[in-house]
Amino acid sequence: MSYRHIAVDPVTPTIGAVVEGVRLAEVDDATVAEIHDAWMEHCVLFFRDQTLTPEQHLAFGRHFGPLHIHPAAPYAHGDPALMVIHTDAHSKRNNGSGWHSDVSADAEPPLGSILHLHQAPSQGGDTLWASMYAAFEALSTPLRALLERLTAHHGADYTGHYGDHPPQRAFPSATHPVVRTHPVTGRKALFVNAGFTRRIVELAASESRALLDFLFKHAMHPAFQCRFNWRAGDVAMWDNRCTQHLAVWDYHPETRAGLRVTIAGDRPFLARDADADAAPLNVAAGR
Ligand code: SIN
Repeated sequence: MSYRHIAVDPVTPTIGAVVEGVRLAEVDDATVAEIHDAWMEHCVLFFRDQTLTPEQHLAFGRHFGPLHIHPAAPYAHGDPALMVIHTDAHSKRNNGSGWHSDVSADAEPPLGSILHLHQAPSQGGDTLWASMYAAFEALSTPLRALLERLTAHHGADYTGHYGDHPPQRAFPSATHPVVRTHPVTGRKALFVNAGFTRRIVELAASESRALLDFLFKHAMHPAFQCRFNWRAGDVAMWDNRCTQHLAVWDYHPETRAGLRVTIAGDRPFLARDADADAAPLNVAAGR
């Protein structure tokens, strides 16, 4: 794809691109449209050295849809849409320490997230993203066909994650297709993750465990990934419908801090191919 308002430099052939020539604090509609096109093409975009007030960060997010409120995470400036990302010498955990797609346990999981890092450690603190298009496409045809007939239960339990910060709402849970069709690109993506996916509904418990463990390991293959080394001021925006990510906490006791604005999404669906076997599985749910 060619762009007139932005310069797009891919990080890998599979996932991730650095975007140059744009100040996110003031983007016009034509630039937003190109950012959206590049986002759909590369799944994760990186913007170096951005100066953004919280209001400008929120406004940039709203270009892509209504904002999502995290069920439990602390927020800043009195606005629940400004999720705090903060790890310092006293932290017991960091956000996103395991592979996940943000709040996939919501019935309508957020479509994307935009993180502006205000403070970066002197070394480390990278985030990794993996393409779930690539993960799905790398599987054999028979396994892809099986996965397309399955659904999985996702659940979130944030008990103790955020200290004494009271949750914004009940912890979510939902059942989603194991493979989802991206509503913009039409591509199929694997949609299970170690952070939230608990059980494949149609399989026996032991089968579900074995298949999920295989898929979680498969999804982490380095060939599906890119990795970003943050500097203060950088912004990353990722598409939760076709990626997973993991934030590495290797910088203790240094501080890493920023704000995340998250964009609301819709209910995951799988558009079945015309020639797919439409017969439902003989479900033995709950075995
Ligand atoms: C997250 O939003 O899951 C954390 C991402 C990061 O801190 O890099």
